[in-house]
Amino acid sequence: MTKNTVTITDNRNGNKVDLEILDPTIGSSTIDIRQLHNKLGLFTYDPGFQATASCKSDITYIDGDKGILLYRGYPIEQLAEQSNYLETSYLLMYGHLPSHVEYYDFVGMIKQHTMVHEGVKHFFNGFHHDAHPMAIMVGVVGALSAFYHDSLDINNARHREISAHRLLAKMPTIAAYSHRRAHGLPLPYPRNDLDFIENFMYMMFSVPSEEFKVDPAAVRAMRLIFILHADHEQNASTSTVRLASSSGANPFACISAGIASLWGPAHGGANEAVIRMLEEIKNPDEIPKYIERAKDKNDDYRLMGFGHRIYKNYDPRAKIIREACNDLLNVLDSSNQPLFETARQLEKIALEDEYFLERNLYPNVDFYSGIILKALDMPLNMFTVIFAMARTAGWISQWLEMMEDKEQRIGRPRQIYTGAKVRDYVDLSKR
Ligand code: SDX
Repeated sequence: MTKNTVTITDNRNGNKVDLEILDPTIGSSTIDIRQLHNKLGLFTYDPGFQATASCKSDITYIDGDKGILLYRGYPIEQLAEQSNYLETSYLLMYGHLPSHVEYYDFVGMIKQHTMVHEGVKHFFNGFHHDAHPMAIMVGVVGALSAFYHDSLDINNARHREISAHRLLAKMPTIAAYSHRRAHGLPLPYPRNDLDFIENFMYMMFSVPSEEFKVDPAAVRAMRLIFILHADHEQNASTSTVRLASSSGANPFACISAGIASLWGPAHGGANEAVIRMLEEIKNPDEIPKYIERAKDKNDDYRLMGFGHRIYKNYDPRAKIIREACNDLLNVLDSSNQPLFETARQLEKIALEDEYFLERNLYPNVDFYSGIILKALDMPLNMFTVIFAMARTAGWISQWLEMMEDKEQRIGRPRQIYTGAKVRDYVDLSKR
């Protein structure tokens, strides 16, 4: 079959090259530029990789214009409605919805790994009392490679699978511990009689002297947040995990790198930043001042929770979570109502403002997940930790896929050098 190609001509010397067009299952076709430098001596320039495919992947598909998100072909709307986090994790990792046996075997496998080595617990005493839990997560998750030497051969498929299970299972335990130590609370053992989300809520909020009761509405909201945040194609933190893994680094170190990348306010740190922004705005009367600041080119202030690199339509996750957010707010007589009213007004004003409409700056998933987590009285500095827990399913799935991709090699981007031309050293005595 003749290949589809594009021809690139260097009009400085008339040299040409035909580059193959690679077609996806769905979405935009891609030019294979791997021969470009050999044939024309040219690199490509794409800061932020806005138009660059770093890999081939079967896992998640996003159509930013149509507001579509598929996990292994299944629409996020259906998974949000009918699935749960571990089933979605299995789907992302193994590529199909699990049979009854596959599902319960997987759940059983994950439960086997929910505890951490007793030595890991000592780490939590070493951090400063008010360390941000994301700083603790980066440190402790990265340090897991110091404990699980039996599964660090990344060329061994079984080791890769065990490491993936360990990471998925231990994130909630480490996350809860990163919160409890700072509040002088004991570190409870995981309870495998509870499901994944209930166990996390138990480890976060249980008090030894009282019977633990989990709020079903809170579990439902958290289940939704976990499914919606599980994977999202080649976002910054997933690309960080892939780049770190490309050198052959162990999975614990690579996921730790992903957690660090997610922490940024432009990425997963946005859900915490949304609440800090709403608290700073204080009340709806102040909103116009902040909208003006967000529009002001001389001010790098941005509305947290608005805009997205890919979704130039509504983030489909935001649509789903917005409904859950409104349902939850309607039943909670939370003391945070003024903050939620500010959020509602901000959303309304932004969605009517020319500046935001022209730039397709809609509320994204972080806008509403921040509000839901606040409504659930989750500690503010745990918001991005919850995002990291949920995204672990995507990170490990993308890592497993990359480790089996024969085309993958060490990631090593090039540059446009704009520095000094060659020059000779001048002795200090002459400077
Ligand atoms: C996540 O990639 C993923 O998939 C991420 C994620 C995932 O699941 O992994 O979806 C999770 O990170 C969601 C995004 C959370 N971040 C925020 O809410 C932070 C606020 N948003 C912005 O920082 C920004 O919108 C980004 C980072 C999300 C996207 O930035 P882009 O695509 O690089 O957009 P841009 O900087 O090129 O902006 C385009 C224009 C600019 O104005 P002009 O130069 O055209 O005049 O839009 C403006 C920007 O100034 N703009 C904003 C804005 N976001 C973009 N102006 C005000 N407020 C904003 N939030």
